Amino acid sequence: MPEGFGGQMYQKFGLFEPYQKYTKSEKVDEGRFAVTKNESDKYVFKVPVLRNVAMTPPYSHDGSVDKMEEAVWIMGKIQLGKDLTKEQTGDVVAFLHSLTGKIPDEVMVVPVLPSKE
Ligand code: HEM
Repeated sequence: MPEGFGGQMYQKFGLFEPYQKYTKSEKVDEGRFAVTKNESDKYVFKVPVLRNVAMTPPYSHDGSVDKMEEAVWIMGKIQLGKDLTKEQTGDVVAFLHSLTGKIPDEVMVVPVLPSKE
């Protein structure tokens, strides 16, 4: 597993049921399809990096999911077809917390960009 923990693939979001049923997204984004117009790209999104995921709410491409617990339960439901119990969801969330690390000082520095000329 690369150090980002995910983030290497495009996958359909909503394999078992339409994602908006659970995310309650106001606007339904069709994902890669909007760019490629290939039917097979409908609702296909980039799988996000899960490193430091606890620090980056809200979740999903449109920020429609507030809590990690919800994001994990939704993943189980519509990506794996499983109704995770509260305990199972909590265990996965505890694991995701273990992916939180110290952000190196050098990446926290605002870069000085070259001028246009
Ligand atoms: C228990 C297993 C899984 C866990 C814990 C999990 C966890 C997560 C989390 C926390 C997010 C939200 C990240 C963010 O918005 O920053 C996410 C998004 C995503 N996951 Fe999963 N995931 C699981 C299984 C899967 C599977 C099996 C697939 C594909 C077959 C998948 C594909 C995706 C995609 C495409 C997104 C992006 C959705 C969007 O942009 O709205 N996940 N996952």
